Amino acid sequence: MKKHNFSAGPSILPQEVLQKSAEAILDFNGMGLSLIEISHRSKDFVEVINEARATVKRLMNLSDEYDVLFLQGGASLQFAMVPFNLLKLGGKAAYTDTGVWASGAIKEAKKLGTVDIIASSKEDNYTYIPKDYTVGTEYDYFHCTSNNTIYGTQIKDFPAVDSLMVCDMSSDIFSRELDFSKFDLIYAGAQKNMGPAGATLVVVKKEILGKTGRDIPSYLNYQLHVDKESMLNTPPVFSIYASLLTLQWLENNGGIAAAEKRNKAKAELLYNEIDRNPLFKGFCNVEDRSLMNVSFQLTEESMKEKFDNAWKSAGISGLNGHRTTGGYRASLYNALPIESVQVLVEVMKSL
Ligand SMILES: Cc1ncc(COP(=O)(O)O)c(C=O)c1O
Repeated sequence: MKKHNFSAGPSILPQEVLQKSAEAILDFNGMGLSLIEISHRSKDFVEVINEARATVKRLMNLSDEYDVLFLQGGASLQFAMVPFNLLKLGGKAAYTDTGVWASGAIKEAKKLGTVDIIASSKEDNYTYIPKDYTVGTEYDYFHCTSNNTIYGTQIKDFPAVDSLMVCDMSSDIFSRELDFSKFDLIYAGAQKNMGPAGATLVVVKKEILGKTGRDIPSYLNYQLHVDKESMLNTPPVFSIYASLLTLQWLENNGGIAAAEKRNKAKAELLYNEIDRNPLFKGFCNVEDRSLMNVSFQLTEESMKEKFDNAWKSAGISGLNGHRTTGGYRASLYNALPIESVQVLVEVMKSL
């Protein structure tokens, strides 16, 4: 039986994407060869990566001022690539600290220059999104994390800043409509809303590159990836192909606007039950609640065994909270159907 997969990442993908990916592993485009045993420079694969890059741009409604790259190293490597490419020698960057991933990004940037943490919710266990801050022209760039996967907080209104705007959208990319042209650089690991682990999406406004005065190691240099059309070295071909299929699935199902509607309906259903049922409580500030990762706890620890047994026997998987927060976390990524949320809510009601 197919499980209800609430995993935080790697996470659920559309069934048709898994089916088509499996077929391509055995025989790609009827070539008599597997997708993963042909050259990445072959016509068939170049079409895949180019279509994936074009589909990202269409979905995000971005102009040719932007380029789309599929890199490796996860979002974690972007923590270092961003300052390498945008933090000027002697310059400084502004970061918000909204969780483990944001502080990982801060740690890497500090190795290359001055970082000001202009807002933080660390003292309150990252249970809210800080809002009262400004970012002036003295900063080379501002970095934020749109969705804090572990705690289940999400930025609803992005600040207007007077510097470049960089965002880690790893756990809510393609999940809601945004004016993506407000951002100068966006990055995201594939393994939540886009595809299998392996590829990392980078969307970059080309004019911001080449201004730091740094000698950047080749793989870490966005400009080289732009020049080589995201083919500087052998790319993660399988992850890119499955990402293309997921992006096409998204486009064929109404694009980001329709996904946002579905995501809102799923999140509302679950948060309503958390708020209604005295056995549960949410982890973070109500106004900052994420549509993607719903973190919650039991109010009576004595119910843990009963609840755990109930959701496991209902065919639910991946509901345990992150090891740093404990409790539970239901990740409601684009490919999760509302029926899975209904099953979870029924289990919660039945306790
Ligand atoms: C918001 C966010 N940023 C960064 C990361 C790290 O991503 P990766 O494992 O691709 O390096 C994660 C992983 O879950 C994440 O949720």
